[in-house]
Amino acid sequence: MKSIIYDTYGSPDVLKLIKTSIPKPDRNELLIKVISSSVTAADWHLRKADPIMVRFMNGLLTPKKKVLGQEFYGEIVETGRSVTRFKPGDKIFGSTGLKTGAHSEYIVMSEDSVISKADGNIENESLAAIPIGGMTSLFFLKQGGLKKGDRVLINGASGSVGSYAVQIAKAYGASVTGVCSTRNVKLVREIGADQVIDYKKERLDNHPHSYDIVFDTVGNLSYKSVKPLLSSDGHFISTAFNLGLMQAMMMNTFRKGHKVYTGVTKESRELLDEIKNLLKSKKLKAVIERTYSMEEIKEAHIHAESGHKQGNIILAIQGGTTHV
Ligand SMILES: NC(=O)c1ccc[n+]([C@@H]2O[C@H](COP(=O)([O-])OP(=O)(O)OC[C@H]3O[C@@H](n4cnc5c(N)ncnc54)[C@H](OP(=O)(O)O)[C@@H]3O)[C@@H](O)[C@H]2O)c1
Repeated sequence: MKSIIYDTYGSPDVLKLIKTSIPKPDRNELLIKVISSSVTAADWHLRKADPIMVRFMNGLLTPKKKVLGQEFYGEIVETGRSVTRFKPGDKIFGSTGLKTGAHSEYIVMSEDSVISKADGNIENESLAAIPIGGMTSLFFLKQGGLKKGDRVLINGASGSVGSYAVQIAKAYGASVTGVCSTRNVKLVREIGADQVIDYKKERLDNHPHSYDIVFDTVGNLSYKSVKPLLSSDGHFISTAFNLGLMQAMMMNTFRKGHKVYTGVTKESRELLDEIKNLLKSKKLKAVIERTYSMEEIKEAHIHAESGHKQGNIILAIQGGTTHV
C-alpha cells in the first residue's frame, strides 16, 4: 500500500510517498481502507515540530509516528474476531487522534476509537474533514457554556474550526458574528453568520461589551484584548494553548464575571455522534476548499501552513477504488 511518511522534522520536503505493507487487525481492531483524509493545522505543526512541545510527544530528534493524518473517511475491509460494533463493508469516519496515520491507504484502529458509521444521507468523501474541526468547535463552545440567545463572536470564522463553530453556534440558537478577511466575507455569511467583521477593514474593539462568548480559533487574541468585547459575565475561549491563556484560565476562580477557557480538545464518541446528528439534520456541512492527491502532499502542506485555508482541504487516498 502507499503511505506518506516523514523520517525527520522539517519543511514539506521531508514528506515522502512510499510503499509499505498493509497492517493486520488484532482481535478488537478494524482494517480500514482510507478513502479520504484531510490536511489540518495539526499535520503541519507535527511535521515542523512547532511548537517544540511536539518533540516531547513524538520523539526528541526524529518523529516516532511517521505517518500524519488525524481524520479520515473509509470502509472497513476486515475485522478482528472479537469486534462486535462493525462489519466489513461499513463506511465509517473518525479521528485517529494523537496516533495519526490516516495518510495511508489502510489503517488499523480499535473498534472503541472515536469513529462512527457514515450511514444514510451523510455518506460522502468530505466526512474526512469533519471530525477534528467539528469536535474541536463543539468541545470549546460547550466549555464556553454556549446556549440559545447567546451573542457569539468567532475569530477565524472561515477556517476549519471557525467554519464549524459558526454553524454549531447557529444550530444552538446563538446570534453569530464571524471575523475573517475580505475575500471570505461572502462565505462566512453563507454558512450562517448574522454579522461579519472584515478584519482588514474594521477593528474588533468597535464593538464593546457585545458578546457572551468570544471564540478565538486563530490564536492572535489575548484575554486583555478581548476583555472590552465581553459582556459582564462573558466567556473567552481559545484553541491557542499558550502560557498567557493558561494563566488567565487559572485565575477563573478568583475573577468575578469573565471566564477564560483553553486547552486541548477532549475527543469522544459522544462528541462525534453529536456532530453526526447535526450533519444528518443538515445543520452542519464541511466547507471544502480543494482536494489534493497523495502525490500533491507537499502543496497541501504549504497551503495549510499559510494559515489562510478556506474551511478544509481533503487528501484523496483511495477514492473510487475498492478493497485490498
Ligand atoms: N486546542 C486544540 O485542541 C486544537 C484543536 C484543533 C485546532 N487547534 C488550533 O486551532 C487553530 C485553527 O485551526 P484551523 O484548522 O481552523 O486553521 P485554518 O483552517 O488554517 O484556519 C485559519 C483561519 O484563520 C483566519 N485568519 C488568519 N489570520 C487572521 C486574523 N488576523 N484575524 C482573523 N482571522 C484570521 C484565516 O482566514 P483569512 O484567510 O480570512 O485570514 C483562516 O481561515 C490552529 O492553530 C490549530 O492548531 C487547536
